[in-house]
Amino acid sequence: MQSDTEAIILRPSLQDIFSLPPLFTQAVHTDFSFYNEPVKQRIMKKNSLLRLFFARLRKRRVLLVAKISDKCVGVVIGSHTASIGNIHWLFVLPEYRGNKIGSALLARAEAALEKFGCHKVALTTEIAPEFYKKLGYTVEGFLKKHWWKKDFTILSKSFEKIG
Ligand SMILES: CC(C)(COP(=O)(O)OP(=O)(O)OC[C@H]1O[C@@H](n2cnc3c(N)ncnc32)[C@H](O)[C@@H]1OP(=O)(O)O)[C@@H](O)C(=O)NCCC(=O)NCCS
Repeated sequence: MQSDTEAIILRPSLQDIFSLPPLFTQAVHTDFSFYNEPVKQRIMKKNSLLRLFFARLRKRRVLLVAKISDKCVGVVIGSHTASIGNIHWLFVLPEYRGNKIGSALLARAEAALEKFGCHKVALTTEIAPEFYKKLGYTVEGFLKKHWWKKDFTILSKSFEKIG
């Protein structure tokens, strides 16, 4: 039986998609509350129900959810071009954090990107570089006063085996 903290990671069903916009609303109210209202609106618009439906249908997108007792508690969104994978979003509801759900979502997204032929995954983050470093990412650089005048860290992880 599934425990209270044990999540299953899977492609969302069409019904699951309906529960995802509230996750982004939550994200802008908690972790991204430092942004002003127009930026928050933009984040929610970029992750609207319609866009998430299209993301779900597109074969080249990585869209995975973490579910506990049939509830979506986390989401990861990625894509790839020219053999480089990109993680656009990774979010776990605050009350479900610290149970390796974020790690599991990221690992599954990386596996999917590698399967698509990516040799590397890259991302930018303004709030959680240390999380990615713990999971094997290295810092490639910094984007100072970048999107919406925030500082971003560029991180990446290679899928190529050393030696
Ligand atoms: C970052 C996030 C996805 C992590 O989810 P989670 O399920 O709590 O993560 P895990 O339980 O898998 O944590 C794995 C490790 O990273 C650490 N960690 C988690 N979040 C961290 C953070 N923000 N900064 C530094 N370390 C972090 C954990 O302590 C854990 O360390 P351990 O292996 O030594 O115990 C979640 O906190 C979140 O949604 N944050 C808001 C959005 C965000 O920051 N997204 C990613 C960047 S845009």
